[in-house]
Amino acid sequence: MKAQYFALFLGLVLATPGSFAAEPQQEIALSITRILDNLGDPQVSRGAVIASPSKTYPEYYFHWTRDAGLTMASLMSHGGNFPGLGQILKNWSVFEKLAQKNSMTAGGLGEPKFFVDGRVFDGPWGRPQNDGPAIRSWAYLRAFGTPDEFVHNDLEYLRAHWQEPSIDLWEEVRGNHFFTRYSQMNAFRTAAWAYLKNNQRDQASLYAAEADKVESSLAAFIDTGRMLVLPTVGNYQGLSKPAGLDISVLLAVLYFGPTQRWSLSQSYILSTAARMEEAFRNLYPINKSFPDMGPAIGRYPEDVYDGVGFSGGNPWFLSTFGMGEFYCTLAEGLMKQGGVRFDRVSLNFYRRLMPSLQNSPGLQQSQQEFWTLVQKLREKGQSYIQRALFHGGADRHYSEQFDGGNGYRRGARDLTWSYAASLRAHRSCDSASQFLARFKK
Ligand code: NOJ
Ligand code: NOJ
Repeated sequence: MKAQYFALFLGLVLATPGSFAAEPQQEIALSITRILDNLGDPQVSRGAVIASPSKTYPEYYFHWTRDAGLTMASLMSHGGNFPGLGQILKNWSVFEKLAQKNSMTAGGLGEPKFFVDGRVFDGPWGRPQNDGPAIRSWAYLRAFGTPDEFVHNDLEYLRAHWQEPSIDLWEEVRGNHFFTRYSQMNAFRTAAWAYLKNNQRDQASLYAAEADKVESSLAAFIDTGRMLVLPTVGNYQGLSKPAGLDISVLLAVLYFGPTQRWSLSQSYILSTAARMEEAFRNLYPINKSFPDMGPAIGRYPEDVYDGVGFSGGNPWFLSTFGMGEFYCTLAEGLMKQGGVRFDRVSLNFYRRLMPSLQNSPGLQQSQQEFWTLVQKLREKGQSYIQRALFHGGADRHYSEQFDGGNGYRRGARDLTWSYAASLRAHRSCDSASQFLARFKK
């Protein structure tokens, strides 16, 4: 199986970097295979999701609640219903139940990291990380639908603690984080629906109200002066991010989906995406070559983590694929909406791709310009995928990072999350392409 894939992909990658050679279905299948390889490691308890097989430099041979939950969610939403998915979800849920139980007596439910046999990681670490229980309970409800004691434990923990500062998803900063809050809002809202379906109306309204409270708190992350959504506000402790930029803001909306107030086409989100691109384009030398490809994207511009030590930050596969997913999902969203609305900020964003756009309240699907714009958004998304593929290498083994100076892979090898990000990006762009092919006049 593996040898076959290899031959297949070698052919694809030998194509020139200037042409978009990726076959989305094959890329998706390969990313799933790589995830299954990590899940199938014979030395781990069934259901454990190792972040990477790397045991030293760096030590990533652990189960992180966040990586695991996001991977499961991505398999469900973007993986297609491949054989074996049901069993994978079942195994993961059994492992998480053990992990949750173990963390109740040590560390608490915000414990981010577990040994591969389910014991709580007992070394010093950034705790608590309160996106974990949110991502876990949401993915679980998505997989199984019915709320039970396991979900209830996570939700009650979140209800008691969401307003408190915690450690961010990058495990570096203590504060209130957009990504973490967004994941919590999403967990409460998903739970509210699940309890309602289960005829538990009181629980449903309790969590619906909590979701609304969390959502209101998200307004504090908008920096109206700089037109940005900030990654962290209040009670700040840890390295600072003067640029106010972090891919986690965009990932939150992508991973957990839109709400009434938040979506990819919301002006502050658009402007954050544009500023991310500018900042990273100038940051990494590799972005000077092949300017037709989207620029390689890191976590945040001030990052110094090199994947093992702290010699300097690099682009990450999950960020670069994430940007690809951003543009393609945005394109599809606009098509489904049947039009696009402009204000001063969003018009500037769209003009980066289509300078000829006139000042107007927006475009509708009856206008040719609308389709040109959507197509450009989709192409932009593909250009980021192309960048990630180019540095990912012909064998498609995605590590955590790739070197901003020479483009070679760095950090933990075969990072599970990188494959989840790849499959999401390919699926989103493929889906946008199919939509375009069907509806474009
Ligand atoms: C390992 C963490 O997982 C990573 O996100 C972080 O940048 C470094 N430690 C430094 O804290
Ligand atoms: C470091 C990342 O910053 C963090 O988000 C992730 O959970 C761990 N590595 C494991 O992949």
